[in-house]
Amino acid sequence: MIQGVAEISPGERSPFGVLHGRFEESAVSCRRVTKEFVSGDNRTLVLRGVDFDVSFGEMTLLVGPSGCGKTTLLSVIAGLLDPTGGNISVLGQNMDELSGADSILFRRKNLGFVFQQYNLLPALTAAENAAVPLLAAGVPRKRAVDKASAMLAELGLEQRLYALPSQLSGGQQQRVALARALVHEPRLIVCDEPTSALDHETGHAVMELLTTVAVREDRAVIVVTHDSRVFDFADRIAHMDDGRIVRTEASEKAHFPATRN
Ligand SMILES: Nc1ncnc2c1ncn2[C@@H]1O[C@H](COP(=O)(O)OP(=O)(O)OP(=O)(O)O)[C@@H](O)[C@H]1O
Ligand SMILES: [Mg+2]
Repeated sequence: MIQGVAEISPGERSPFGVLHGRFEESAVSCRRVTKEFVSGDNRTLVLRGVDFDVSFGEMTLLVGPSGCGKTTLLSVIAGLLDPTGGNISVLGQNMDELSGADSILFRRKNLGFVFQQYNLLPALTAAENAAVPLLAAGVPRKRAVDKASAMLAELGLEQRLYALPSQLSGGQQQRVALARALVHEPRLIVCDEPTSALDHETGHAVMELLTTVAVREDRAVIVVTHDSRVFDFADRIAHMDDGRIVRTEASEKAHFPATRN
């Protein structure tokens, strides 16, 4: 970890993130991370020593064959599963050093998730579902729902704010889950197949939103995807196979940061 007084003006990109006048090496750093699932006598080693870094200001894609461990890795980074071994640091915080309660607070404040199952609450409207992270943080109800509604409108759902999840299509539910992930302006956003249920145009809008809202110099986005249309939005692509990151490449777009605003 490199620390020191930042000499970089706000908004300037650097190989290191800028956070409150300090340099941070990576938004996420995984070292030799393992995850074994145990059920009775069955043991499945799903993560087999993952080394993975995510830089601030970047969108990193995680790609690989079905079953190679992508969702498991995201869950471990997001603190939803405990790793069996190795070390994970998120936004400069060594996750080993947080107690259970502190870890929940850390996640609630700093992370946004979109998972393969949308996990919307069935009795809440679209706007209420998207407002959940703000309500959990104590934001007054009207302000929380108004902010969530504005985010849903950006995603083309202004006509569906009061619909229940059961009244929404898969793609609409996916966008509500995305609004919920972004509404509290988290610094790390992890998305598992965020465009899988979307048509081309909506998928494009979702990726543009993720890029403009989420990719800033003090933030980072990880997207698991099988959708090659999403590759155009990546700064970096990490290839996973059989429980390991086997290759990471900078996307061509990373050489043209001026194309992003
Ligand atoms: N709770 C669990 N208990 C036992 N095995 C599990 C558990 N969760 C996942 N696995 C196994 O771990 C492996 C990796 O699963 P994971 O969901 O991480 O794959 P994935 O790369 O996300 O695949 P996909 O692209 O199909 O979503 C699979 O073989 C899966 O069966
Ligand atoms: Mg998966």
